[in-house]
Amino acid sequence: MFSRITGTGSYLPEKILTNHDLEKMVDTTDQWILERTGIQKRHIAENQTTSELAEVAALNALEMAGKSANDVDLIIFATTTPDLIFPSSACLLQKRLGINNGAAAFDIQAVCTGFVYALATADKFIRSGSHQCALVIGAETLSNIVDWSDRGTCVLFGDGAGAVVLEASEEAGILSTHIHADGTFEDLLKVNAGVSSNYERLKAGEAFIQMRGNEVFRMAVKTLGRIVDETLAANNLQKTDIDWLVPHQANIRIINATAKKLKMSLDNVVITVDQHGNTSGASIPLALDTAVRDGRIQRGDTLLLEGFGGGFTWGSALVKF
Ligand code: UT7
Repeated sequence: MFSRITGTGSYLPEKILTNHDLEKMVDTTDQWILERTGIQKRHIAENQTTSELAEVAALNALEMAGKSANDVDLIIFATTTPDLIFPSSACLLQKRLGINNGAAAFDIQAVCTGFVYALATADKFIRSGSHQCALVIGAETLSNIVDWSDRGTCVLFGDGAGAVVLEASEEAGILSTHIHADGTFEDLLKVNAGVSSNYERLKAGEAFIQMRGNEVFRMAVKTLGRIVDETLAANNLQKTDIDWLVPHQANIRIINATAKKLKMSLDNVVITVDQHGNTSGASIPLALDTAVRDGRIQRGDTLLLEGFGGGFTWGSALVKF
């Protein structure tokens, strides 16, 4: 028994913040942002929660899969920016979609690797035979935890949602997943407050992403190179067997480095970071949906999904689409 992606969906909120808009907010330039990150614009959720963004992405994915909401028996929601402390965003999404069949629903928090963690988890549930049809979500409203006066981070992040429907199948779909973490790197990338630590900052609306960008950058490039090797070796594959790289969209220079490691032309790399910046857990399913809907990714293609983020966490999935 395998799990197979039968539908993809995504959603970006309407409001757009361009690099030129940011020039008016902090000491930066369109040229610096483009050259150092590849980002042109990001989308900002206004009066929309994370589960609201996810709802649109989920409906699009269900439609592509030809499934109705109550066919879903498992919802796994990757987010670092949940609507509430509880109920989970997965439960709130379940309510929005009108799923009343008792489907299991829970969140996963692995920051930018969240979607890969969620996909890996859903794959194992389906392979075990316990569940048949999973909705796997990556959605974020990071704009709520961005310090809009910090030019080192505010130019990077945006809001969005992506989703896949994962179904039990006799045909191979998810070929392997690889997830890892190393919790010793807290100080390089974190939000400086939570419920049981610095709660007063959270209450004051001063809980912000803090990042030592250059150090994170170097770790990301090194670690993603290793996960590519691990994934290929586990599947006895060569670099040339990968049709599409679908990377986490944090920085075009990190994506270029991974593509170079795979000796892959950028024509075979799905790049959407220019359009929405770093949407953390949403970025991989957003990129996947974009390339599925514009016809680049075709059934039968072999995809390598990979991500790296806060924790540190990192992971990959090898997928026969
Ligand atoms: O998704 C999870 C993982 N996150 C990431 O993967 C992000 C990883 N990091 C990065 O993408 C990059 O490190 C950044 C884009 C954040 C920064 O690029 P960098 O090439 O590493 O720049 P830097 O931090 O070394 O800074 C270079 C210079 C500094 O000025 P000085 O000290 O050389 O005078 C910064 O103050 O660029 C300056 N700078 C800026 N200048 C204009 C930093 N941010 C900006 C800005 N506009 N927005």
